[in-house]
Parts: sequence; C-alpha cells; structure tokens
Amino acid sequence: MIERLVLDDPAGAAAERIASVANAGGHIAMTGGETPRAAYEQVASMDVDWSRSTLWFGDERCVAPEDERSNYRMVRIALLDRISGHVPAVRRMVAEHGPHEGAAAYETELRGEFGNGFPEFDLLLLGLGPDGHCASLFPGDQALEERSRLAVGVEQSGLAPWVPRVTLTLPVLNAAREVLFLVAGAEKAAAVARAFGPRPDPSAPASLVAPTAGTLTVLLDRAAAELLPVGLGS
Ligand code: 6PG
Repeated sequence: MIERLVLDDPAGAAAERIASVANAGGHIAMTGGETPRAAYEQVASMDVDWSRSTLWFGDERCVAPEDERSNYRMVRIALLDRISGHVPAVRRMVAEHGPHEGAAAYETELRGEFGNGFPEFDLLLLGLGPDGHCASLFPGDQALEERSRLAVGVEQSGLAPWVPRVTLTLPVLNAAREVLFLVAGAEKAAAVARAFGPRPDPSAPASLVAPTAGTLTVLLDRAAAELLPVGLGS
C-alpha cells in the first residue's frame, strides 16, 4: 500500500516525521543526495530530543567523510552541526576504504545492533534518482538481486558522483517500519511516474520498495508529481 502526498512543502513534512521518530528514540536511516538537505535543516531548527535516537545511512559514496560528495558530510552540515543540545548516536558507513570492505563492516555493525534477521528501521528515508534508483541500488545492478546480505558494495555507480558506493539491500529497505521517499523537481517527474505510477516499471529500482509490514509514503512537490495521473496523489 503506497501513499502519495503532493505537497507545497514536502521537506517540511519529512522534517516532521524525522522529529517524531527521533523524539521517540527511534532508529532512522538517512538518505543522501541534495533533496533531503532542506528537510534536515528544518528538523535541526525544531525542538527535538535527539538523545535516544540513532542515525544510520541508507547508502554512502566511497569517499572520505569530509569529501564534499559524502552523504555523511551533508547530514553533518545540514543537521548534526546545527543541533543544540544532545545529538543522536550516528552510525556512519565507513565507505572510504572501499565498497566491499565498507559493506562488510556496516553489516557487522547492523547485526551488532539489530541481531539476526533484517533490521527494522523505525524510519527509512529515501530519495529518487532520475533513473529510478534509490539508495545506491541502480537499474540493472546485481546489488538489486541480493536477498540475504544487509549491505553490499556497488563498484560502478549508475549516476554521478561516479564513485563506488555502499548501500543497504532491498530486503533491508522492505523491512523498515516506515519508508519515506522525498522527491522534488521536474527532473524527477518521469522517474516518479515509472516508480510510483499506476503501472510501476520494475526496471526502476524504487518501484521494488514495498515494505513487508511497514508503511510506504512518497512525499512529492507538484513538479515531481506532474506526470502522475490526476487524482493519484492526494
Ligand atoms: C545518493 C542518494 C541517492 C539520492 C538520489 C537522489 O547517495 O546519491 O542516496 O539515492 O537519494 O540520487 O539524489 P538528489 O536528491 O540529489 O536528486
């Protein structure tokens, strides 16, 4: 069951969900890229008790944490450095030593926290690439086929930045209690229609996100929702 919300301020709606789950001491998997920056900046200015929450990452570029392409760096600048008071625990993907090493290390860290089985993030944030990718699960990549590991290395990214990646696997995305996509901009409209339209295109990785027991919500601005049939988004 997918809920599509077309909003004037999808970043604000995402910020509200992040705040709510953080206040409850939840485990939140952060997404990278540029779209979520506004949501992170908004939630950083809200009155949130971060002290019991833990931030994880859905994917990371294989660069140093202070490299401008690092998802961790974007979260640090947009959110962590702006929080006054207690900060959340942060479990970044140590991806700078290579995709496979990074994936193995993150898998160990996830199992240490969540035990066996697939970790059930309280909130898992995702963006959408213009090619329909989410996290670092790119169209046609073998990482999409992984059904037992929690994280894998991606040697060839399907879009810029052209660096290897570490990504959570599809079973982990689908184990989350709440999956929240945040998508904005006309350049995403075609991918939104492919991934979240009435006849999803399975070659768009985001169309494969279907939480086993959790909820799936797609927050959209009007431009990103432009190619959805009228009435499909509320
Ligand atoms: C990443 C992200 C990726 C992102 C999409 C959309 O590492 O790049 O995790 O999946 O969400 O590429 O990125 P933008 O928000 O920058 O368009």
